[in-house]
Amino acid sequence: MNRIVRTEHLNIPSSIDQIEKVDSLVETLAASLGFGHDALADIGICVTELVMNAIVHAHKEDAEIPVDIDILCCDDGLRISVRDYGPGFETNHVPDPTSPERLFDDHGRGILIVKTMMDDVKCTRLDDGMKIEIFKKLNESSK
Ligand SMILES: Nc1ncnc2c1ncn2[C@@H]1O[C@H](COP(=O)(O)OP(=O)(O)O)[C@@H](O)[C@H]1O
Ligand SMILES: [Mg+2]
Repeated sequence: MNRIVRTEHLNIPSSIDQIEKVDSLVETLAASLGFGHDALADIGICVTELVMNAIVHAHKEDAEIPVDIDILCCDDGLRISVRDYGPGFETNHVPDPTSPERLFDDHGRGILIVKTMMDDVKCTRLDDGMKIEIFKKLNESSK
């Protein structure tokens, strides 16, 4: 079962003030699918982390470069992809934020948070950027 109920696409300039708009649309769509308060918060955090990474790390806040966000509302959950046009990175080589020397850092946890909160995360390094796809399952514990 994986029927698409609704799709939305956002193409935003790489400016931090765009994040609120993305978060708001994603949470509205997620709520209409039936996700509950806690899952909505998790989804909001993750989409914010990924879009922030695209804007800041990939595009260095160059508003000329767009970030593409696809939101797929499905009957089994919510799928979101965040696509940037930056240099890309190796998600498996990101320094471990839980290691003792990084424990008190105030950065470097975004990817780990996303991997922890979502049910599936797929990172693809493209010729001209990065695509990160996340999936949050709609079930009794996320309603
Ligand atoms: N979209 C991206 N493009 C290029 N590099 C990225 C991207 N997302 C993350 N990174 C790299 O991975 C690192 C870890 O990201 P993250 O876990 O979100 O922590 P933080 O953003 O606080 O540094 C970043 O510091 C950056 O080097
Ligand atoms: Mg980050």
